[in-house]
Amino acid sequence: MNSSHNPQKTQSIQKRYQEPISLPAALDLLRSGEVVGIPTETVYGLAARIDSENALKKIFHTKERPFFDPLIVHVSSLEMVRPLIQSWPPIAEALSQKFWPGPLTFVLPKSSKVNPIITSGLETVGIRMPNHPISLELINSLGIPLAAPSANKFGKTSPTQAQHVLKEFHHHVPVLDGGPCQIGIESTILEIRNHQISLLRKGSILKSDIKTTLQQAGIPFEFVEKQENQITAPGQVKHHYMPSVPLILLDKNLSLESLIKKIQAELSQLPDQVEGVSINKPKGNIQGVVELQLPRMATESSRLLYSELRNCATKNADIIFFKIEPYHFSEAWAPLMDRLTRAASLRF
Ligand code: TXA
Ligand code: MG
Repeated sequence: MNSSHNPQKTQSIQKRYQEPISLPAALDLLRSGEVVGIPTETVYGLAARIDSENALKKIFHTKERPFFDPLIVHVSSLEMVRPLIQSWPPIAEALSQKFWPGPLTFVLPKSSKVNPIITSGLETVGIRMPNHPISLELINSLGIPLAAPSANKFGKTSPTQAQHVLKEFHHHVPVLDGGPCQIGIESTILEIRNHQISLLRKGSILKSDIKTTLQQAGIPFEFVEKQENQITAPGQVKHHYMPSVPLILLDKNLSLESLIKKIQAELSQLPDQVEGVSINKPKGNIQGVVELQLPRMATESSRLLYSELRNCATKNADIIFFKIEPYHFSEAWAPLMDRLTRAASLRF
């Protein structure tokens, strides 16, 4: 991490969690202002109550996340949304009816009640209702929305199982087990301003799904590109979701031998860090070469992507490679290719 972006670390948390915790234990911890790993249908989140500044800061410290990167607020009802925003546009109403609870985040002008730590000082707040019975019950019982980024160290691969969260934080963060995530990649993020929509992050709800839903509801809308220079979502940071072993994307037909030669030559020219995220480079000769293999169906591949990346990284690999095929250029594969591209150190 670049030190100018690195929030000061708090004292290390002493308690160790060998196993996931129960829902009542998670509730107690959240009430007392602690962070807890929670399951959602997309990826596991690192949650804290939104009304405690200390609890919110713990999220950034635990993740080693820069404070310029805003958090998504998770709600369990529409009533919870109202106090957080200035108004609820017809686009949000129509899309929430169709897709909530689900993997869709709205970025809307915020009310003064939202702590600026959540929004990194932006005038907008990201909100979603996750489609997971455990997180819905948790938020509902707490009666307070939860801010939750993905439960991984900043820039690293997102967790899709409770065990991933335990490992990521060396058993120092408590986690609720809700099974493997059914969607497997992060929510689609839409910024809505009156009738204008910007797609800030691709997810399993596609642009075509959004268009069809709004057309059917008879709501006027226009997709616009978010202007440069405004703080971008780190989903848009070039290097993100990175596994502990370098991932290489391959467009071309190269023999394994010439591939390794090329990689060896180019890796040594890569910097150690890009945008505050360290890039793992093989030391010495490349010997362990592991292929990331994913099924053809985009929905199935999304579910498997992050756990497969983690598996590949444990197989004595010096590098992981992924072969790009023509079907990877379809709309359904676009969110996956977005993650793979950002997770990759090189592309040939
Ligand atoms: O599926 C998900 O969205 C998961 C689960 C846990 O809900 N959460 C997640 O959070 O992916 P995180 O923090 O890893 O990514 C959230 C993204 C960040 O890129 C952040 O910049 C963006 O949402 N974001 C949040 N609030 C925003 C805002 N007001 N304006 C622009 N981007 C925002
Ligand atoms: Mg994340």
